[in-house]
Amino acid sequence: MINIILGTRPEIIKLSPIIRKLEEKNIDFKIIHTNQHYSKNMDKIFFEELNLPNPDYNLNIGSGNHGEQTGKMLINIEKVLLKEHPDIVMVQGDTNTVLAGALTASKLKIKVAHVEAGLRSFDKSMPEEINRTLTDHISDYLFAPTENAKNNLLREGIKENKIYVVGNTIVDATLENLKIAENNDKAISFFNSIADEDYFLLTLHRAENVDNKERLFKIIKNILDITKIYDYKIIFPIHPRTKKRLLEFNLYDRLKNNKKIKIIEPVGYLKFLLLEKNASLILTDSGGVQEEACILRVPCITLRDNTERPETVEVGANILVGDNKDKLIKSIDIMLSKKRLWNNPFGDGKSGEKIINIVFDIR
Ligand code: UD1
Ligand code: UDP
Repeated sequence: MINIILGTRPEIIKLSPIIRKLEEKNIDFKIIHTNQHYSKNMDKIFFEELNLPNPDYNLNIGSGNHGEQTGKMLINIEKVLLKEHPDIVMVQGDTNTVLAGALTASKLKIKVAHVEAGLRSFDKSMPEEINRTLTDHISDYLFAPTENAKNNLLREGIKENKIYVVGNTIVDATLENLKIAENNDKAISFFNSIADEDYFLLTLHRAENVDNKERLFKIIKNILDITKIYDYKIIFPIHPRTKKRLLEFNLYDRLKNNKKIKIIEPVGYLKFLLLEKNASLILTDSGGVQEEACILRVPCITLRDNTERPETVEVGANILVGDNKDKLIKSIDIMLSKKRLWNNPFGDGKSGEKIINIVFDIR
């Protein structure tokens, strides 16, 4: 029996192809939701849209400092695992939920499967880098999306026979759900109501960008400056962490009062895919959004100094600009005239199936 542990928006989205396959194949599984994300449009909306079964356990952990949040998760996940006795625990990505799920399982000698293993930004100041590195080192099945990710793991001494290069389940999720979105009346009418002229799509939530007042100030100033140079609207579905910080640092109104910037609440996956697919350009610091932009052949500019998704840069789909205004403007010019011809480096959209076949030894 397998227990899937998830807690945040990207984990729900990226595990959805695996959960669908488990259902299709009638394999026994349970979902343990830490509720690291709990606002409706960061959580429930994805279960509904992606047609996922309700979690078997909601641990109601919510937000908190890293130690507090991760500690509460360890205590509560352990109780469930002691009751359920799964053979395998599966986690995806690099959040506190992932580290807590993998660590609890590993202490109980339950096998750990890590989906999206081997990503490295080589920046240990990011909480995600710590979470993903530690999780990889206590995992039994490491599902690396690319050869590059596999090589990161081999360099750290992880045994090759535990590593499987299977692509990234985000390709499965993007391709499957884009088709659904393009036929979904609600998503289409939302899109038509908001995207009435050419636009850049913006997302921002990384702690190193939004929790640092000086850096956030610079990034927001850059965004305001580009509205004076380019004749594009900027659509900004705002992550709750970012909204909180912008309000705290008195920056929210400066964005809100700019006529070319449209701040909206975070949206469901179908609406977001339409916004991505039809954007002239995507500006982001999100991991998943860098991948989706690359898959959908929409040019991306990443507002970070590094990325654990270097494949997107290598194929020409993404440029890193950090908080540097000159680099940002140069990159916008490059990306707006770019031919969208790159190949998707993250696999063929069958990662979910491959992962299930490996874990359950289905030939
Ligand atoms: C977390 C992950 C990050 C991932 C992101 C996906 C960690 C350390 N970080 O960051 O890697 O990219 O999820 O979105 O695990 N909040 C709400 N409602 C919610 C969730 C959060 O209002 O449903 C607000 C709270 O004020 C909270 C803040 O957002 O304090 C941050 O939430 P948290 O889960 O700690 O981190 P994220 O920034 O969401
Ligand atoms: N996403 C969404 N609605 C939004 C913003 C993002 O559905 O308003 C999706 C997006 O398509 C991607 C995922 O959320 O699949 C990325 O999540 P996030 O940026 O929060 O986390 P990260 O990938 O950086 O960990």
